[in-house]
Amino acid sequence: MQGSLRVGDWIGDRFEIFDVHEGGMSWVYVVHDHRAAAGRAVVALKTLRDDLLGNRIRRTRFATECRLWVQLGHHPNIVQAHAVEILDGRPFVVLELVQGGDLVRWIGTSRLDLLQALRLGIQFCHGMEHAGRQGLNCHRDIKPGNLMVTEDGILKITDFGLARICEEMIAVQPELPDGSIPLASAPRAPQAIVFSDPRDRAPQVATTQARPTTQDQSTAEYALASDGPENPRLTRIGVRLGTGAYMAPEQFVDAATADVRADIYAFGVVLFEMLAGHLPFAGRSIEMLARQHTKYAPPSAAPFVVRPYARMAGAVDQVVQRCLRKDPAERFQTMVDLRKALQALLARARGK
Ligand SMILES: Nc1ncnc2c1ncn2[C@@H]1O[C@H](COP(=O)(O)OP(=O)(O)O)[C@@H](O)[C@H]1O
Ligand SMILES: [Mg+2]
Repeated sequence: MQGSLRVGDWIGDRFEIFDVHEGGMSWVYVVHDHRAAAGRAVVALKTLRDDLLGNRIRRTRFATECRLWVQLGHHPNIVQAHAVEILDGRPFVVLELVQGGDLVRWIGTSRLDLLQALRLGIQFCHGMEHAGRQGLNCHRDIKPGNLMVTEDGILKITDFGLARICEEMIAVQPELPDGSIPLASAPRAPQAIVFSDPRDRAPQVATTQARPTTQDQSTAEYALASDGPENPRLTRIGVRLGTGAYMAPEQFVDAATADVRADIYAFGVVLFEMLAGHLPFAGRSIEMLARQHTKYAPPSAAPFVVRPYARMAGAVDQVVQRCLRKDPAERFQTMVDLRKALQALLARARGK
């Protein structure tokens, strides 16, 4: 249904479309809400693609997950979900309209110096701390594409809950005849990982080479299913269970066990990328990324901390490296701890 919706069409008898965007797993409509309370007339409606949302049970799961996002309420560093609406039989999450695009647009540009990267990082922590206080502890798909940034530099985290629901929806285990996923045992089996975002599919080539550690830091087997991109169903759906370039080592093994420290790892990748302009690990296949994330020491971020902040390079790299530890127990344990470390760096950078 959604693919046929165009600018000028209505969704229900309430939302008039004026822009249509296609995401990796979703459709986003910028709409005029003809029944809106004052000040909220233009919003974004997001719904999952047909392949993901094929039956009633899945639609219900999506709506349920999005209601948790709605319950996060208002926070300046979270894309606010106002409501979940079922329109023409399809669930949509009604989102605050964010203009300015996502963090991908900032990476590799001169706008993103150390100060700006730290400011954005601190905002990220504030948003995640708020979500944690509401009981939502792990986002599971932290990446620049899920960090929107307004023109005046306010970072807003988006897609709360969507990673989990998509994991369930394409869990490798077969569906029950009614189309539902057997939840009790669902994410334990090896899971296929398919990139949703073309930008993730072909990561930029790092100019700094990742190097193997002298000793293997992980004996984990990669729980990668053989039915990867060549599985037509998964390819067509185009959804991943994790975005390989940002996934913590433990997520490659068992996504279900990931906690906030996996988000901290993913943020470490984002922070490296903000500073360097490229990813720390640039494997071109999911197997290569799994190997790099679980076994290779990340390159140092220090060479990318340039004048006038060059003398802080070691301290900045320490924070990046602590986020990127293979063992979750060696990372920052909470968003508060991470924020304090970023704030200390920012204070130092401002003092120069
Ligand atoms: N709240 C929003 N306000 C404005 N545009 C949005 C909003 N959410 C998503 N978009 C736009 O819709 C497009 C696809 O959304 P995205 O969230 O990236 O999809 P997906 O998560 O499925 O990859 C992007 O271009 C994005 O900028
Ligand atoms: Mg997204």
